[in-house]
Amino acid sequence: MEIKIYKDAESIGRAAAGMFAAKIIENPKCVLGMATGSTPLPTYNALIELYNINVLDFRMVKTFNLDEYVGIGREHGQSYYRFMFDNLFSKVNISPKNVHVPNPVSKNFEDDCAAYDAAIEKSGGIDLQILGIGHNGHIAFNEPSKVFPFGTHIVNLTKSTIEANQRFFKNIDEVPKKAMTMGIGSIMKAREIIIIATGKEKAEAVKAMIKGNVDPMCPASVLQLHHKVTVFLDKEAASLL
Ligand code: GLP
Repeated sequence: MEIKIYKDAESIGRAAAGMFAAKIIENPKCVLGMATGSTPLPTYNALIELYNINVLDFRMVKTFNLDEYVGIGREHGQSYYRFMFDNLFSKVNISPKNVHVPNPVSKNFEDDCAAYDAAIEKSGGIDLQILGIGHNGHIAFNEPSKVFPFGTHIVNLTKSTIEANQRFFKNIDEVPKKAMTMGIGSIMKAREIIIIATGKEKAEAVKAMIKGNVDPMCPASVLQLHHKVTVFLDKEAASLL
């Protein structure tokens, strides 16, 4: 793991966007793994700035998002599909047909999950994956558990995740209790990974990810086993290292 500590979230966003930009410039048909949450927003803003000054062309870029809630449609204001269009895709020239966000709608979620993994494989695999981290060390929606879940699957969200996501909904009852998420195996297959954490409320999870044992009770700790991970932290998130 290469650990980089920056002064604030905006500087991290510019640095992470620089890594995405390099991939797109090197290979205009690259495959990018996208994340939601507040953490990647400065990166997406910096990418939009680079697009606006004509450095980037997203026309042939393909994307795969990590996860999506079960039980709310794509038109819902808090769906991750909507989040990606509101915060990035509608602001660059990406082709909607190249955008993939898990879509747990069929009667058979197992088929949806298998199809998502197959689509990633068919695209040639993810060149660069961006991740945030949950307070309990989750990545995507892979919650702490006894073993690392491998492929894309349906998950019951933990109380801590539901509470953390409450800020986006009117009340806790409206927060979806299930999600469809790429598994740890799907994430670890990415050729390169960026993980970003900012703020002191992420410091414990960051410590467990970097200094703890590889343990499915801290899903992000598995990243210690990946050969090309850059960890971007601000001083608060790095404060327990
Ligand atoms: C959700 C998402 C994760 C994200 C996490 C942290 O649970 N599924 O992908 O990393 O929230 O969100 P935030 O960046 O807002 O702290």
